[in-house]
Amino acid sequence: SCISGFATQRATDMPIALIAHGGAGNWRPGSEEDAIEAMRVAVEAGREVLRRGGAALDAVCATVVALEDNPIFNAGTGAVLNFDGFCELDACVMESREARVGAVAALRRVKNPVLVARKVLEETDHVMLAGEGAQRFARSMGFGDHDPVTRDRHADWKDKKGRLDEVLGKHSLKMRRFLKEHPEYAGGTVGAAAVDRQGLLAAATSTGGVTMKLVGRVGDTPIAGAGNYASAHAAASATGTGEFVMRSLATRAISEKVAAGATLEAAMGEVLDELGRDYDADVGIIAV
Ligand code: GLY
Repeated sequence: SCISGFATQRATDMPIALIAHGGAGNWRPGSEEDAIEAMRVAVEAGREVLRRGGAALDAVCATVVALEDNPIFNAGTGAVLNFDGFCELDACVMESREARVGAVAALRRVKNPVLVARKVLEETDHVMLAGEGAQRFARSMGFGDHDPVTRDRHADWKDKKGRLDEVLGKHSLKMRRFLKEHPEYAGGTVGAAAVDRQGLLAAATSTGGVTMKLVGRVGDTPIAGAGNYASAHAAASATGTGEFVMRSLATRAISEKVAAGATLEAAMGEVLDELGRDYDADVGIIAV
């Protein structure tokens, strides 16, 4: 189930629009209503930015920060834990203007990875920083130490780890079939895409990745064109098993199809069909 929120409104210049998702995967029993309410709050935070004439980049960041700060979602605080029991966070922001993009991968101990990704975009000539270097950069930009591991996620990890060892053996590296049979082990992702009054498009995506991922595993989320992309034609954010999204460069493919004349709906339909046909992949995508 992919819970998404949608808000659109015609403004003085360009029609503004913002869409967000809270990730593919299963919700813990009883948490679905909380997730929907949290999505509503996050979408409103972004829409308010657009309504005031703000930039799409600010709007998607406001939405994703709200989702990162809510422990229901697999991003920021409450992100899933890796095989060794700690969080490694991936995030990306992209704006259609000059294809500006910033990303962080396998980043540890920050509250809002999406804002660190934005600093990479704004303050460096690089596109992506990873691991220890990303953390050092975050600290130099004033992002304090924050442990995103919640009590619930840790208990969940302990439970799954015990059962995982039983099923797979202690050091199995191949989890694809296991994840197919046990979708409750897959993670989730949060993301938003928006267009502002000036006609600029932006997308932001943030995730803890896949539960029990190997230490150092980086998914689709921080890869521009895979889990997150924005051009003058379309802005999109993906969720689901990142390895498939990386192979298909799904969000970039949507933009290319729109540039070639397809409607957004047709472009997304084709890309999702291809993902199903070529990879048997469980993937969700939002776009404006
Ligand atoms: N789509 C999130 C991930 O696979 O890391």
